Amino acid sequence: MSGPILEFPDQVPYDAYVHAGTLHSLQQPLSKDPGEMSFLMISQVMELYFGLVRHELRDAQRLLRDDDARGALAPLRRTRLHLEGLVAAWNGLRWMTPADFNRFRGLLGEASGFQSAMYRHVEFLLGLKSAALIRPFKRQADVHADLADALAAPSVWDDVTALLARRGFPIPAEALAVNTADEYAPHPAVEAAWVEIYRTDDPLTALGEALTDVAEQFGDWRYKHLLAVRRTMGDKAGSGGSSGAAWLTRSMAKVVFPELWSARTTM
Ligand code: HEM
Repeated sequence: MSGPILEFPDQVPYDAYVHAGTLHSLQQPLSKDPGEMSFLMISQVMELYFGLVRHELRDAQRLLRDDDARGALAPLRRTRLHLEGLVAAWNGLRWMTPADFNRFRGLLGEASGFQSAMYRHVEFLLGLKSAALIRPFKRQADVHADLADALAAPSVWDDVTALLARRGFPIPAEALAVNTADEYAPHPAVEAAWVEIYRTDDPLTALGEALTDVAEQFGDWRYKHLLAVRRTMGDKAGSGGSSGAAWLTRSMAKVVFPELWSARTTM
């Protein structure tokens, strides 16, 4: 039985690939409070997950545009699993009381997850479009340009609807020629197409379920975030300037893939 390799000419190959040294050099807490590290690192872990989810959703879009609905299942199923990881990551903050949070909260200044560009990319891909929410990035030209492109580009849901039209479902032109930068307005023809897909057990049902899983897990992340907010700061205003829990509750009312949910009422 041979053991692992113990000698390397220079950097260990693990670090060359994972850049663990770089990752572990990125934590710069603002206080001496031992609890702040979990707040900071869980935020970083979630940021990485946002990036991974964006990667998977973009891959799903590429396949949907190629008319490969079956192929798109793989990145969508991976998205669901990554979102489950994101939801589980909230557990690492459940120790935090308002007193614990207050020990370093003031040092965060106006910093807030609200200013996460990667989270906004994920929301735009999921069809939650809002031109106002890219304004904070005005002075970061590259970040702003990327977000403006993502805002104007079709969401995963727009691509799914275009695929349904190509497959012969009666989707009127007005439901396809929407301004994709605007807030999404659900369309009865899209809902009717999904009712038909589920009624006839069309192979696209698998796509519908994979998308439902993604929407459900994303909703779980938002809900757990709201609980973390209420648990650690009640109804206080947010560091990002919003009314806090009240603002988040309003933002959560915007549904991901809305017709996939509303269709179930008439199924
Ligand atoms: C207990 C810890 C946390 C509290 C108290 C908290 C608080 C808040 C509040 C009050 C907002 C609303 C905007 C504002 O006025 O600041 C917000 C937004 C947001 N936070 Fe957190 N947050 C916490 C943890 C996190 C973590 C770990 C992440 C992960 C990166 C995160 C990501 C976000 C995102 C993406 C938004 C924007 C949500 C949207 O646009 O609907 N938050 N947070």
